[in-house]
Amino acid sequence: MAVRPHALDRLLRPVHRWVWDDAHRRGQKLLRFGLTEADGGRDLSRAAELTSDALLRRLYLRHALDEQRHANLFRQRGRAILAALPEGSQAPTFQANMFAPGERGLDDLRVESEKDASLLAFLHLSEKAAAQRFAVYHEVLAAVDPPTRDVFADILRDEAFHMNYTYAQLKRVSPKRHGFRLWTARLSRLWKGYLRIATAIANVMGGVILTLQYFIVLPIFAFMAKRAARRLRSGWTKPRDESLLSSQY
Ligand SMILES: [Fe+2]
Ligand SMILES: [Fe+2]
Repeated sequence: MAVRPHALDRLLRPVHRWVWDDAHRRGQKLLRFGLTEADGGRDLSRAAELTSDALLRRLYLRHALDEQRHANLFRQRGRAILAALPEGSQAPTFQANMFAPGERGLDDLRVESEKDASLLAFLHLSEKAAAQRFAVYHEVLAAVDPPTRDVFADILRDEAFHMNYTYAQLKRVSPKRHGFRLWTARLSRLWKGYLRIATAIANVMGGVILTLQYFIVLPIFAFMAKRAARRLRSGWTKPRDESLLSSQY
């Protein structure tokens, strides 16, 4: 299977170009990509330990080494970009992680509780999504940053291999039900995507509500406290009913 950008990413190409255009953001994104690649490599090493299929173990180990190599490539390039920035340059606060994420790997899937077939289905979809995303990053970086584009070209070859071997192995271990496995994995990824979007919306809403509280509700209490303070006399005053203080009961 050749890797081409997803239709949605092709539509969003101007957004991707804008995201990668800023050198500071580019450097930080590559460092973050390095972390997720290394995380994926660790999950695959664990999957290699757990499987009883000798061929899958070999492939998972090779895959884990590839992900570790990608982590190093992204880290090196990210550091080089950040080191070349002029001193005192400001990092943009908006990282656009929703629009331009890295490789998600096993995406918090519990490797221990998955069977070979379900793990392969999930891996195939994840690798395919990463390869399609990296293909669009590779395209937009051609005009922006050729050395970073070359890093993506190198990694993209491995991602295409990951995408293809996971599909071929899924068909081998589950010849009759591989289509069903893929649909189940697709639904699980959709659910995770929904949770990610819902969390992002909840974050924004939380920020808006707290800001409104700060500027609308708090001034009302501050005004009432100031008015009450003006009514109080300064210094010691006699209690209104002295008998109240004659006993503790
Ligand atoms: Fe990778
Ligand atoms: Fe990969």
